[in-house]
Amino acid sequence: MNKKPVYILGIESSCDETSAAISCNGTILSNIIAGQEVHERFGGVVPELASRAHQQQIIPVVDAALSEAKVAKEDLAAVAFTRGPGLIGSLLVGTSFAKAFAMSLNIPLIEVNHMQAHVIGNFAARERQEIIAPEFPFLCLTVSGGHTQIVKVESYLKMEIIGQTIDDAAGEAFDKVAKMLNLPYPGGPEVDKMAAIGNPKAFKFPVSDMPGLNYSFSGFKTSVLYFLQKQRQQQADFAEANMADICASAQYTIITILLKKLTQAVAETGIKNIAIAGGVSANKGLRKALMEKQETSGWKVHIPAFEYCTDNAGMIALYGYYKWQAKEFAGLDIAPTARYGF
Ligand code: KG4
Ligand code: ZN
Repeated sequence: MNKKPVYILGIESSCDETSAAISCNGTILSNIIAGQEVHERFGGVVPELASRAHQQQIIPVVDAALSEAKVAKEDLAAVAFTRGPGLIGSLLVGTSFAKAFAMSLNIPLIEVNHMQAHVIGNFAARERQEIIAPEFPFLCLTVSGGHTQIVKVESYLKMEIIGQTIDDAAGEAFDKVAKMLNLPYPGGPEVDKMAAIGNPKAFKFPVSDMPGLNYSFSGFKTSVLYFLQKQRQQQADFAEANMADICASAQYTIITILLKKLTQAVAETGIKNIAIAGGVSANKGLRKALMEKQETSGWKVHIPAFEYCTDNAGMIALYGYYKWQAKEFAGLDIAPTARYGF
């Protein structure tokens, strides 16, 4: 007997992507992502401009998600939205839209933690697209522009942060290195591209060691800054002349820092099922290093599809489905929150 289709609309507006997606019984039917070019010339996200762009984009993006999925709004079972963490003005746009939409259709509202949704991105797949999902329990290295976390995942709805950064996030470290090298924003993918043709051992940067399973990237960032200042005094075009090697060496150091604590987490928990999530999980060097760990250390590594690594509503619509199954609904008085731990 066929299962009754449960269509969930997901809304994501935590930073600078306006995204809407439809999931059906745990698969993704559509995942529309509208970026915001307005920030490029400022070299970073301008919160006020982000909120305005979300306001302009949210209705066409939701429309596109419904029509691509061939789902009428009256057939939706619930509306799931990112409640936080993120930029409060941006979150407000998605939250207000989700509330109004759910209220007008008289269907439940589901609030989603953006960081937990990144973890859930590991289960995201289109209809008829086979994926081998990670097995519970697993450790997820969530690495984005604002967060770096090691999460112990027991089930879709049971997750615990066992390590995190005490200062910068891994994505921020990538973006700041790119900025020092005058590469365009967002810098992570640019460093990734350049690193592919550089020598990772050309320059040496320090690998931090924090207590427990925590991370720190501020020492690394400062050392790259001082290194470039010193080299530029002797050779004004040092960065331009050594771009690929600097990128490869910086990326190698960030990956070494990330894997050091992840390896420690595997030893401490005995869990060898590993997943990654967040924007930095798109990094080719990190993906390769994890696949090597699979060969050398017996880890079972799960890498999500590119589409579900960076910010997207597919992961929100999917997480919304799991919460719908558990009947975890939110009241219409719910407010977004810039900081949202778990
Ligand atoms: O998860 P995400 O899209 O947004 C946040 O929730 O922060 O992550 C964005 C971060 C940015 O710092 C961006 O530079 C980084 O992910 N990123 C990358 C790559 N693609 C995106 N960093 C390194 N290599 C990449 N290929
Ligand atoms: Zn994110």
